[in-house]
Amino acid sequence: MTKQIKKTVEELAAEIVRHDALYHGKDAPEISDAEYDLLRKRYDKLVKDYPQYAVAAVSESVGAAPASGFRKVAHAVPMLSLGNAFDDEDVLDFIQRMRRFLNLPADAEIPVVAEPKLDGLSLSLRYENAELVHALTRGDGAVGEDVTANARTIKDIPQILKGKPPKILEIRGEIFMHREDFLKLNAAQEAAGRQQFANPRNAAAGSMRQLDPSITASRPLRFVGYNWGEVSAPLAKTLWEARAAIQSFGFTLNAPVELCASAEEMLKYYQKILAQRADLPFDIDGVVYKVNELKLQEQLGFVARAPRWAIAHKFPAEQALTRLNAITIQVGRTGALTPVAELEPINVGGVMVARATLHNEDEIRRKDVRVGDMVWLQRAGDVIPQILAFKDDGEHSKRPEFIFPDHCPVCGAEAMRPDGEAVRRCTNGLACPAQALEHLIHFVSRGAADIAGLGEKTLAEFFELGWVKTPADIFQLEKYESELLQREGWKEKSVSNLFAAINKARQMPLARFIYALGIPQIGETTAKLLARTFGSWDYLYQLTQSDDALAELTNLDGIGASMAEDLLAFFHEKHNQKVLVVLAKEIQIQNDINETVHSKISGKTMVFTGTLPTLSRDAAKAMAERAGAKVASSVSAKTDYVVAGEDAGSKLKKATELGVKVISEAEFLSLIS
Ligand code: IVH
Repeated sequence: MTKQIKKTVEELAAEIVRHDALYHGKDAPEISDAEYDLLRKRYDKLVKDYPQYAVAAVSESVGAAPASGFRKVAHAVPMLSLGNAFDDEDVLDFIQRMRRFLNLPADAEIPVVAEPKLDGLSLSLRYENAELVHALTRGDGAVGEDVTANARTIKDIPQILKGKPPKILEIRGEIFMHREDFLKLNAAQEAAGRQQFANPRNAAAGSMRQLDPSITASRPLRFVGYNWGEVSAPLAKTLWEARAAIQSFGFTLNAPVELCASAEEMLKYYQKILAQRADLPFDIDGVVYKVNELKLQEQLGFVARAPRWAIAHKFPAEQALTRLNAITIQVGRTGALTPVAELEPINVGGVMVARATLHNEDEIRRKDVRVGDMVWLQRAGDVIPQILAFKDDGEHSKRPEFIFPDHCPVCGAEAMRPDGEAVRRCTNGLACPAQALEHLIHFVSRGAADIAGLGEKTLAEFFELGWVKTPADIFQLEKYESELLQREGWKEKSVSNLFAAINKARQMPLARFIYALGIPQIGETTAKLLARTFGSWDYLYQLTQSDDALAELTNLDGIGASMAEDLLAFFHEKHNQKVLVVLAKEIQIQNDINETVHSKISGKTMVFTGTLPTLSRDAAKAMAERAGAKVASSVSAKTDYVVAGEDAGSKLKKATELGVKVISEAEFLSLIS
């Protein structure tokens, strides 16, 4: 029995960790917040009774480790999360816990400030002598990402504080987007053929995580301050007064708020905000209660990942029941077959819903939804609703189970599902029309060929006309110039702009070219790694056709077996090869050789092992690559240097056996200096 509980706790923990990473690390959640909260609630409940099975990664973390790309900075005061209350009873328990902790009588009232729980991402702004010195995301709560350059572009964030702020002041609050601004942004993204966001929160998080601040500047982000971290002098005696102080420094406050004297008033506030929810210009997922008296806050302190003096009272997700009319299959750019639920249109929390994703084959089996079933839908801030479960109308068991197709519904080629993967994919590569259009859209997107003048709609139009079937055709569009001029919406000027934009894209750095190909699993980071490592398109292409390819690729730190297999499958596909030959004639791929600095380790292969005294593994790796070295994950006779730190294990042993030169961090640093 207890073995079973341990197993359940571990399974829940693994799921939570996975969803944390998707949400915080990639801004790409797979489940709704409500579903996540349920997971967390089940986990917390079990761990309360069986603390011996607690999993540290879940019990102590408040998010995922910071995503790479930004400098990591430790928070002066940890950024914590909030505990959740799901019903009135949980709220009363919260108050009762505080009374017990403070040794107060059972009927003592503890005044709280009640405010909306904004659905965005939290940010910590540090001011020294009234000047903004840095802005950090929450990260894992202890260490955040330095997004100062991006924060400086947001109009709600003062660069210089007004009034008389303490010498050191960290204001914490939420970055978010108004729903209306979000819809406009998505429309603009679509028109430009760029990625659309699932909801305002993802849009806010994605905008904040841009490496180019000018992109952040173009996004309609807002900030409100609701809390603080390190302060060199107290702001006030109560939260209510502290809010006034924060406002006097030049910040916008969270609203509408109320000072509640009793539990009754708190619950009344909750109902009031719940009723106003759809009318507020931004998404909220509940309300937050915070003890007003700051001295009491201090006494109450924290437990694990959340303060004892505050709690989030979550709203129920908006749900509705409707008929599942059909399950259709969509084919994406990478050939992934995604099942889509076609629903009897229904209003869920103010939005008409007619379709919902069913994610994949296993999800359909797990939920056992069948065509004709009545299903529960849920929209929790997300534009794409989730199907929760079927509601048996007595006919469910008589309906046939859905049989997932093993052929691509668009081109008829075989669709394969590799062992251990959730997704089934069409094997036809660039030749499958469904993938072709998606491939084209990806090809012209930012970060890839970046042909801004060629939006999704235009591409779809050219595709329908048969003018553009593969990326190579884009560069031959000029032959349709006279036909294009006769089409509605096209004039001399717009046509020549289009061709100019296309011609500009003929010069393409290798990394962008690799990324533009839309190879499954090969994102921008991996594309850069490949470009940096192999230097030229010819070299990379030859390599993919050689027998050593798999070994060479998987030996790179950052490329796993499944990624390498996808990459090789792409390059071995006959149709793709044909397209690549034509494409390589149309554009000049700029080799990546000049980007790397010439150093003593240029062209050398290095392996890092053990804990280095000052550098993180990622930092050391990046420095080596910048200096022109290849970083491998395992030691072989081809390895030139092994940089060994403390607790180096088998790799060090192997290096010694093979006679590979072993150096320290200090020696490594002097080699690249
Ligand atoms: S106070 C130590 N107030 O919710 C308490 N947080 O689930 C700090 N959030 O990380 C948080 N609205 O991103 C607070 N009015 C509000 C909030 C709020 C949204 C977010 C915040 C926090 C998360 C915790």
